[in-house]
Amino acid sequence: MSSAVSFARMVRVLALAIPCLLPLLSGCDLDSYPAELTYPLRSDPIVTSPPGSTRWDTTAPGQLDMHIAHLSDPEVGGKTLDPAKLPAKERGELERALNEIFGTPATPKVFLKDADDEVKSRIQDLKLDDKTLAHGSIVYRRHCMHCHGVTGDGRGPTGPWINPTPRDYRQGLFKFMSTAVEVNNRKPRREDLRRTLEHGIEGTSMPSFSLLEEAEKEALVSYVIHLSLRGECERYTMEPILDGSGLEGSVREKVVELLGDFLHAWANSNAKGIEPGAYPYKEGDLQASIRRGFQLFTDPRGSASCINCHVDFGRQAPFRYDKWGTLVRPANLTAGVYRGGRRPIDIYWRIRGGIDPSQMPRADFGDQAAHKEQWRNNADPYWDLVNFVQALPYPQMLPEDVRDSIYGRRHEKTEHAQR
Ligand code: HEC
Ligand code: HEC
Repeated sequence: MSSAVSFARMVRVLALAIPCLLPLLSGCDLDSYPAELTYPLRSDPIVTSPPGSTRWDTTAPGQLDMHIAHLSDPEVGGKTLDPAKLPAKERGELERALNEIFGTPATPKVFLKDADDEVKSRIQDLKLDDKTLAHGSIVYRRHCMHCHGVTGDGRGPTGPWINPTPRDYRQGLFKFMSTAVEVNNRKPRREDLRRTLEHGIEGTSMPSFSLLEEAEKEALVSYVIHLSLRGECERYTMEPILDGSGLEGSVREKVVELLGDFLHAWANSNAKGIEPGAYPYKEGDLQASIRRGFQLFTDPRGSASCINCHVDFGRQAPFRYDKWGTLVRPANLTAGVYRGGRRPIDIYWRIRGGIDPSQMPRADFGDQAAHKEQWRNNADPYWDLVNFVQALPYPQMLPEDVRDSIYGRRHEKTEHAQR
């Protein structure tokens, strides 16, 4: 009897001890970085001009870098610059400037010795203080790095094997933003990055991290901004050296100037969101609004011209290159899967703001004088498009003539679109 009890206790002790011992056994401590580790300088090609469209996604798993290496082949038609061609002197200067300003994975920072008050207050507003960044960096290592990579290049060990590939933050480009369209060089607002973390990105392998603690999510948002700033300063310092246009001052001066510009863009974006017009319709107005949305969507000449890319409502849309040089397909809008969220406001933001890196333009009905027709009788063309897009996957929600022209008569009685 007593030996059975002590055996059970031993099993319990071992069960508790094993998880604590595992990191030691694997030689991998999840909660810190080696102090001597620095962010490696970029070595993958910079895509300065992606090619046009192609019918098929030709990137098989694991082939991302091979694919990008061929973008500048004449028959593909893109343009890239090769960081390996950076002269040794500039390379050393860039490495020193970036390490000085952005720190290391163990001690990340956004620090300028001689920063003026404006820069300091932007760093504060964007929550880029050393303590928050150090916390973010540790949580990032545990949950994000295997996809998004040490520098945020989207090339962590899992990165090349998934499609779409994880976001490369270093270009300063993001898809899902609620930032006002007037802001120059739009960046996501902190709350946009928070939303992406909270919900993940539907239809892709980006998971939801809603179970993390509040402080962890906030710290991750700061750390994503830090990696993006570092990567963008790196890229846009390298570019003029590589394309031969040259720098006016020293490499460090260029990095400092760029940091000022990008902090400005992030802070402005954070401060100003899209303000949608109040929802103008009552319940009985919905069918008419959906019909107007359908007309706007399918008008090949309109400022929207959605159908030109979302061919057959996205069921036959060819792939296009995005600004990272990877392939993206105009969404199949009959499927009802929305990467940036499915609430009416999410879809409003996509249509009003566009999805810039995927080269989806924003719809612009701003000049009411020029778009009189669309704004007549209290109609709001943005909400009309939102209503149409939301009804599109559900044939029963569409006015009969609209349903027939999208799904044909045989679908009349099905509740959901065929996927
Ligand atoms: C399993 C891989 C994976 C993991 C783990 C992962 N991501 Fe992602 N992430 C992705 C993919 C894939 C995308 C791009 C989806 C797309 O392009 O539509 C993405 C995109 C993003 C974006 C860009 C959103 C935008 O608006 O463009 C952010 C920010 C992001 N991830 C943050 C994180 C953070 C922070 C973590 C860790 C807490 C994390 N991700 C973990 C795969 C991953
Ligand atoms: C130049 C091509 C192009 C045009 C024009 C265009 N789109 Fe798109 N659209 C895309 C691409 C590409 C995507 C996929 C973006 C991604 O997943 O990165 C997309 C995605 C979407 C999505 C899905 C967003 C999500 O969260 O997944 C919606 C909704 C959408 N488009 C609506 C529209 C509407 C409405 C119009 C017309 C006002 C329009 N698009 C015009 C290319 C275009």
